[in-house]
Amino acid sequence: MRIDVITIFPEYLAPLDVSLVGKARAKGLLDVRLHQLRDQAHDVHRTVDDTPYGGGPGMVMKPEPWAAALEQVAPPDEETAPRLIVPTPSGRPFTQQLAVELADEPWLVFAPARYEGIDRRFIDEAATRMPVDEVSIGDYVLAGGEVAVLVIVEAVARLLPGVLGNAESARDDSFAPGAMANLLEGPVYTKPAVWRGREVPPVLLSGNHGAIARARRDEALRRTARNRPDLLERLSPKDTDKHDRATLAALGWTERGDRFSWEGPPVAH
Ligand code: 6GU
Repeated sequence: MRIDVITIFPEYLAPLDVSLVGKARAKGLLDVRLHQLRDQAHDVHRTVDDTPYGGGPGMVMKPEPWAAALEQVAPPDEETAPRLIVPTPSGRPFTQQLAVELADEPWLVFAPARYEGIDRRFIDEAATRMPVDEVSIGDYVLAGGEVAVLVIVEAVARLLPGVLGNAESARDDSFAPGAMANLLEGPVYTKPAVWRGREVPPVLLSGNHGAIARARRDEALRRTARNRPDLLERLSPKDTDKHDRATLAALGWTERGDRFSWEGPPVAH
């Protein structure tokens, strides 16, 4: 996969040299190219921003340097066009599903903005010649899109064939399509079996694979109930068994129609 990033802070993307993404690049599985947006601003100050039409706070990124940079990276006369990703807090949510979709693309270009964003006309014009996705990584506001690029690239890179050592590692992810039907993963343990008086749950040492899978699923249900009740609301009772429903009932979640709903902890008699 090829990835181009156009930014006024290429140094902000230095982590792409490290760890999983760095190794994927070294192995030739990922070709990452960084571009300085200011190289396409030709006035003495290499200006990339200006005041917003209509007034308001902050500055808006000018369309000309962005268009010139994109045209240099992906010339309009070439037959293959990339998919353009514009990180913005007003974009659609970045999810594991979108990561899986992006991992199938041969070529992504990222356009992370600083300030209040990029002049709309740049995005609208780019969309006439390539697919464009405006993507948000969560409900908070960052000072710029570079960190979002790091997040998205890492989530996508680990899905590329040959990047993860263990072929099963990506399949079991909490948000992988079909993984435990969207439950959070439970806690994990390694040696020693007793550490500072704290024991690893004995079932994990039992060698009983059925019991281990069941215990892990119970922990996944408990953790999801505590940290992400919104995910439990989307869990279909069809994807649960009797034991799951008993675990959920003990947590106050009971079957209501084709969903689970929180009805409070069971009353003791
Ligand atoms: Cl993609 N960009 C910025 N600036 N802030 C964000 C974001 C992106 N996603 C969440 N907050």
